[in-house]
Amino acid sequence: MRVRVLGTAAGGGLPQWNCGCESCCRAAELGTQRTQDCLAISGDGTSWYLVNASPDLRTQLLATPELRPEPGTRRTPVEGVLLTSAELDHTLGLVTLREAGRLTIHATAAVHRALRQAFPITEVIGNYTTVRSEEIAGGQVLAGGIAVELVGVGDKRPRYASGLPGADWVVAYRFTDAASGRSLVYAPCLPAWNEAFERIIDGADIVLLDGTFHTEDELTRSSGSDRPARSMGHLPIRAALPEIARHPGTRFLFTHLNNTNPLAHPDAPEHAELRAAGAAIAEERQLLVLE
Ligand code: MLT
Ligand code: MN
Ligand code: ZN
Repeated sequence: MRVRVLGTAAGGGLPQWNCGCESCCRAAELGTQRTQDCLAISGDGTSWYLVNASPDLRTQLLATPELRPEPGTRRTPVEGVLLTSAELDHTLGLVTLREAGRLTIHATAAVHRALRQAFPITEVIGNYTTVRSEEIAGGQVLAGGIAVELVGVGDKRPRYASGLPGADWVVAYRFTDAASGRSLVYAPCLPAWNEAFERIIDGADIVLLDGTFHTEDELTRSSGSDRPARSMGHLPIRAALPEIARHPGTRFLFTHLNNTNPLAHPDAPEHAELRAAGAAIAEERQLLVLE
């Protein structure tokens, strides 16, 4: 199984187009860009699935040779998309995929409902391509031999869908390579480290984890916002580190970094804290091989 980390930033990316904070200015000056959180995953190196569809998807696809069509064809290696939520930073890239010959979207019932009703992107792109909306409940095996399990990790709705019913709004996936038995968990939004999450990461080789904020009061300090990290559905990295210490056999990489997170910058002194815990920040275009 191969996993290509297509993007590692939270909504808006780094730098944000409308932000002149110290972090965004530094990123712009040094050219340290982070595109919005998204993965590509393949069991056989031929059939690929996107996990989330970021607003930066076109740039991310073009930067990834294994996702290009074979010369002389229009046959994309992208077989479908799995979504962890209906948030705009995880779904706007579906617009880019309208040019596909067909598009299968795997998501929970609540997420599909949001994409039909509050943000009717499925219907809109259905005018350009053949869309299949598949409800994902775990137990599926994707083309190329990846078994999928999932766990609900939150009921935070996107702001645009605040009136819609449903419980399974945010999920974490566990992908297991049928050939090697090795597995990766992807949880870009994790409000709390509970028992269900503990079960889904048990024995996993790699966990790609919510790294939106380094500390609980990061946004409060940087922008005067009164919203602590957890109230926004994101367990801060500092609170995850003691949990990580209990899983010495698993490699933890943080993704979905907000522009306020000092760890978005490679030279931040805060990286020492992560190294001591055996964790790291996921890099743009990082390739993870589980064979
Ligand atoms: C989130 O990760 O909490 C959302 O994507 C926030 C947003 O951009 O609306
Ligand atoms: Mn987000
Ligand atoms: Zn900024």
